[in-house]
Amino acid sequence: MENAIKNMVQGIEAECGGACACATCHVYVDDAWAEKIGSAEPMEEDMLDFAYDVKPTSRLSCQIKISNELDGLIVHVPERQA
Ligand code: FES
Repeated sequence: MENAIKNMVQGIEAECGGACACATCHVYVDDAWAEKIGSAEPMEEDMLDFAYDVKPTSRLSCQIKISNELDGLIVHVPERQA
């Protein structure tokens, strides 16, 4: 989420600043990365209920902890947000 904001990625508003309280940072993790990213924690799952067009690979980008292991990560912004 922070990288998306810094790079002005359209569709990532992050209204709550990363507090897992808005769902305006919703992304789809690319299928090739889904297993490595893992699933959402219960609080994130609850907030995803407020996102549009949620899919099994949906995540709130502010809850994805970036590490060197995720270099090259691909996520997609839902069409309705972009
Ligand atoms: S920035 Fe608000 S939930 Fe991610």
